Amino acid sequence: MAITASLIPAHEVDADWLVVLVSDTPEFQGRIRDLDDVLGGTIRATIEQEDFEATPNEVLPLYQRAGVAATNLIVVGIGAAADCDVRCLRHGMLAGLRNCCMKAEQSVAMLVDEGVSEQISTSLVAETFADTVVSGPVDADVYKAELKRHPFADATLCLADTGDVEQALDTGAIVGSACNVVKDLVNRTANDIYPQTFAACAAEIAEDCEVECVILDETHLAAEKMGALLAVARGSEKPPRIVKLSYRGADSDAETVAIVGKGVTFDSGGYSIKPSDSMISMKADMAGAATALGVISAVATLKLPVNLSVYLGLVENMISGSAYRLGDVVTARNGTTIEIHNTDAEGRLVLADVLSYAVDDGVDAIIDLATLTGACVVALGEDITGVFANSENLSDRIRNAADSTGEFFWPMPMHKHFEPQLKSHVADCKNVGPRWGGAVTAAKFLEKFVKDTPWVHLDIAGPSWADSGTAWQDCGGTASCVRTLVEIFRSE
Ligand code: BES
Ligand code: MN
Ligand code: ZN
Repeated sequence: MAITASLIPAHEVDADWLVVLVSDTPEFQGRIRDLDDVLGGTIRATIEQEDFEATPNEVLPLYQRAGVAATNLIVVGIGAAADCDVRCLRHGMLAGLRNCCMKAEQSVAMLVDEGVSEQISTSLVAETFADTVVSGPVDADVYKAELKRHPFADATLCLADTGDVEQALDTGAIVGSACNVVKDLVNRTANDIYPQTFAACAAEIAEDCEVECVILDETHLAAEKMGALLAVARGSEKPPRIVKLSYRGADSDAETVAIVGKGVTFDSGGYSIKPSDSMISMKADMAGAATALGVISAVATLKLPVNLSVYLGLVENMISGSAYRLGDVVTARNGTTIEIHNTDAEGRLVLADVLSYAVDDGVDAIIDLATLTGACVVALGEDITGVFANSENLSDRIRNAADSTGEFFWPMPMHKHFEPQLKSHVADCKNVGPRWGGAVTAAKFLEKFVKDTPWVHLDIAGPSWADSGTAWQDCGGTASCVRTLVEIFRSE
């Protein structure tokens, strides 16, 4: 697909669709004004009649219009230009674009209200355009014979000054396609994506972006004495895997950051079985691993000057005669003995062994990504990632990156006083604390396995998955955190 920027006036661009993002300003400026003049003031009149108020993501389809070369015209609101941040812009673009890809091979052009330039640079507008053109059409209907939406054939961003946006367009397309990889893996089902097939997908992606890939099988994991991860895996007929991916874009003495992903390809809860309503979406309990894979594929394709290692802990949590039981004591790779009080608190057991493995690899910092607790969703809602850290520096890097991507993160407490809540009578610790503060005790459990390596745990149980669709995304996998984590490595 060709994604380009053009100086041609919007009404002259020859495309199947022209999408125009307008603010609720009382008077249009610049290119939007020129376009509305060609339309005889239709957009302004519609706003004045209050039939369209240009609120964020509000769509006004005008379809065929005399004077506009594009076959169809769609207007999308972004609210007040001064309040339009990159999140608002991305959602507005998606709300428009998602109406234009119901047929295959469509071409689309876009014009954005110049008022946003106070908030968002032209290059970020261009990057967001390319990202949304690539990621917007990808839905959750992965097994349908006929997809609802289709990739665009061609996309043009109308700008008053195309200056230096080429690289931004390339970057946006790479990030958007990394998001598609994540959504696809999350949306595919647990009978399709299980540890072996996930590992095979990772190997394929690694080859495409020239990243080194090592797959550790169950024999290797046993030799590593990964008793916590293997306890979770025991109930399943699908053997576990760890995938290690390494990208070396900087000198060997430069920092190496590790991203560790929870890849529970299905979480039945085990003997602490989940009710059906909670189990139905548990094919998505590998979103952390999928996100980590998406991030490294983007970082490597962008050839960023950083060293990044990714560790995916791939396990299925099932019930069988060989499944782990409540009351069992298991020994983690680092020697810690853990009494199992709830087999549904499996993610932390998988991560315990993968984290200690990454630490012993000598990485300089660790970010883990996990759909770890329902409690985090109760605390922060469905759209905010919980941030738990032993290093302020690392959590600052995430916050700064999030400022430029518009994704939501929020710091969570890690007070020492939570520690006794994980005490066990028979082992070094148990795998769950009391009901209250469950997202924090989960993080405190993980902390036992990172030694003094700077570490941030991101609980993505809420934002990685959308139960229902919106104007800007389908229900299902959302690829949350991909943009922010890639951004961390771009601003090095
Ligand atoms: N995968 C779940 C967490 C989850 C819940 C992810 C909702 C996405 C949406 C995790 O393995 C889990 O079951 N956590 C338990 C922990 C509890 C047993 C301490 C939970 O949150 O209930
Ligand atoms: Mn669970
Ligand atoms: Zn889980």
